Amino acid sequence: MVGRDFLGRLSEASSFILQLARGMLESHQFYQTSSFSILTMDKLIVEGGYKLSGSVNISGSKNASLPILAAALLTDEPVRISRVPDVSDTNYMLQILSQLGASVERSSGTVRIESPEGISSSASYEQVRKMRASICLLGPMMARMHRCTLPLPGGCVIGDRPVDLHLRAIKALGAKVRVKGGNMVIEAPDGLVGTTVDMRGDNGPTVLGTDNLMMAAVLAQGTTVIESAAREPEVVDLANFLNKMGARIEGAGSRTITIHGVEKLHGCDHTVIPDRIEAGTFMVAAAMVSDGLTINRVCREHIRSMADLLIECGHTVQFNEDGTSVYVEPGKNPRSGKILTNPYPGYPTDMQAQMTALFAVTPGISVVKDTIFPQRFMHCSELKRMGANIKVDAGTAIITGVEGLSGAPVMASDLRASAALVLAALAAEGTTEIHRLYHIDRGYEMLDEKLLCLGAKVQRVLDLDGGNVD
Ligand code: EPU
Repeated sequence: MVGRDFLGRLSEASSFILQLARGMLESHQFYQTSSFSILTMDKLIVEGGYKLSGSVNISGSKNASLPILAAALLTDEPVRISRVPDVSDTNYMLQILSQLGASVERSSGTVRIESPEGISSSASYEQVRKMRASICLLGPMMARMHRCTLPLPGGCVIGDRPVDLHLRAIKALGAKVRVKGGNMVIEAPDGLVGTTVDMRGDNGPTVLGTDNLMMAAVLAQGTTVIESAAREPEVVDLANFLNKMGARIEGAGSRTITIHGVEKLHGCDHTVIPDRIEAGTFMVAAAMVSDGLTINRVCREHIRSMADLLIECGHTVQFNEDGTSVYVEPGKNPRSGKILTNPYPGYPTDMQAQMTALFAVTPGISVVKDTIFPQRFMHCSELKRMGANIKVDAGTAIITGVEGLSGAPVMASDLRASAALVLAALAAEGTTEIHRLYHIDRGYEMLDEKLLCLGAKVQRVLDLDGGNVD
């Protein structure tokens, strides 16, 4: 039998190794590939009921960074991208780029990428399986090399996540697609030729599909018109980046984007937009469990639907004059609300889980319907373990507010579901342990450090059994 002393020493030794590994990672200027298997073993212990106060700075957007990093493959000249959040998804992308043959340096939020002639047009399942957003390598690889081999992404916990629209778009530009051994093998030996493509699927326009088509079209012959384009700010940020590289893109942010193909792109410097979903998450934290929080480095236009909903639900939301900072305070008489997720400028699917946590402790009955990912309700069963009253049926959650939640061991299932659990834990009575913290680390930069600075009692510790319940 293994003694308690031994287990205690093992736990201390593992913590020491974890700290050592983190120290090595932080002190290393170049990106190192193997760090994340170590970070996946963390859990977050949250002591609920401590009011947050003060101010927090929002990091650069993860979802804007990912396609922009991939777009660095479009030129052999160096690009320098600032405010790339240090989260595992951006690091996976940098890892893939470096394995394809690009030179990648990362130093305090700025990434320099140079993709010389001869980089690989093929990525392995091992390289891309950790991140669905690796699909956005398709556009740049096709534009630069006229061929690529990429593993077909599998399903995912938030839904089916097909790539039919990405493939329809690249075929429309003249490429041939076949599936072999789980890979998409895509070729356009005579190059890509511009045309008109509609990017609307059954659940609205596709964001990364629009990105892929824009990136494929920038070096294509002639003009490409994207109808029913995604209008998300991250698409606009990518278009701005590509235009700085010499592309000719008009209309990003509207329903129709026109891309006039050019011969060649060059290097440039770019700063990524603020992460609107991180901003929205802190706004919900402020409404749930604060004495008032100031959230800096935001863009008012990008978070308007989130601000409007909080105001409708009785909370105070005040922007500064230029809309780069927002103050949020819990309302004295909070009200229930309704969410119908929609493509931008509608309410984002990436915020419904966090709002569900807020509705769980708001008097009255709230309704959340996700039209984009109707299966994205994994957080609800964990919130119910904390005392929430939620019924989920056919892509809709009906939440009856309770007086309070109580801390419990819970399991993170995806990025935004984990954020909802953290918010619930901050507001709950007692201690919550959130296992599988690697989901949070995919998209929230230094979340625990930021919360600590605001007065939360949170502690990241090594999770030796990974929270396994099987
Ligand atoms: N869809 C198709 N066919 C396709 C592509 C998409 O039917 O070929 C469907 C999807 O199943 C979904 C809808 O279209 O029902 C919209 O999906 P979209 O393609 O827009 O999603 P995405 O581009 O893969 C990005 C974000 C997601 C965010 C969605 C929706 C990145 C890296 N990811 O994904 O972010 O939820 O747009 O806004 O930008 C997150 O950050 O937690 C996250 C999941």
